[in-house]
Amino acid sequence: MSDNTVWHAHRICRHHRENLNGQRSCLLWFTGLSGSGKSTIAGLVEERLHALGKLTYLLDGDNVRKGMNGDLGFSDADRIENIRRIGEMSKLFVDAGLITLSAFISPFRSERAAVRELMKEGDFIEVFIDAPLDTCETRDPKGLYQRARNGEIKNFTGIDSPYEVPESAELHLVNDGSATPAEVAGAVVEYLRERKFI
Ligand code: ADX
Repeated sequence: MSDNTVWHAHRICRHHRENLNGQRSCLLWFTGLSGSGKSTIAGLVEERLHALGKLTYLLDGDNVRKGMNGDLGFSDADRIENIRRIGEMSKLFVDAGLITLSAFISPFRSERAAVRELMKEGDFIEVFIDAPLDTCETRDPKGLYQRARNGEIKNFTGIDSPYEVPESAELHLVNDGSATPAEVAGAVVEYLRERKFI
């Protein structure tokens, strides 16, 4: 516990950094099943923003789990801690003035709500990448669904661990193959433009 600490308000704050960068920072929170396309879409959004001269940072499930969250597995408790840390980290990146993209399954509504609560009003943009389980399972880009079905991986989201569908995501984007990933990513960039983040 961090007792006996006092928050230090530094003179250079988020708004100075945002002005320097010519953008409003925010957190794009991509959620969805493994294989739904979160990382792909988030990566395409980041490329588009970068090409527009915007400063971004993409926090990605598999990558963060190799480093900061390498001590966590996939029990409910570990997933909750995973998302708590990512939420805090994302908050720092938003304070740094960056358009922050986080791509994690984040299967539990309560944890996504907790990250929303952590952020200032309007900073948290939940992006539900919606692809049916059978589509994700057919894609199976890492072969993990097959291994989960064979019983080699326990607590796999969608198989023997739940995914709680967002009820009020700012963006609900269907990524079942009916639109290209570039089109889906375009909808996110358009959202940021309409709301004057960029
Ligand atoms: S979360 O549930 O805690 O948000 P996170 O997004 O960090 O998950 O990690 C998901 C990635 O870990 C998946 O894309 C997949 O590659 C891998 N993975 C390994 N084991 C599991 C599992 N049991 N359930 C889901 N994903 C898993």
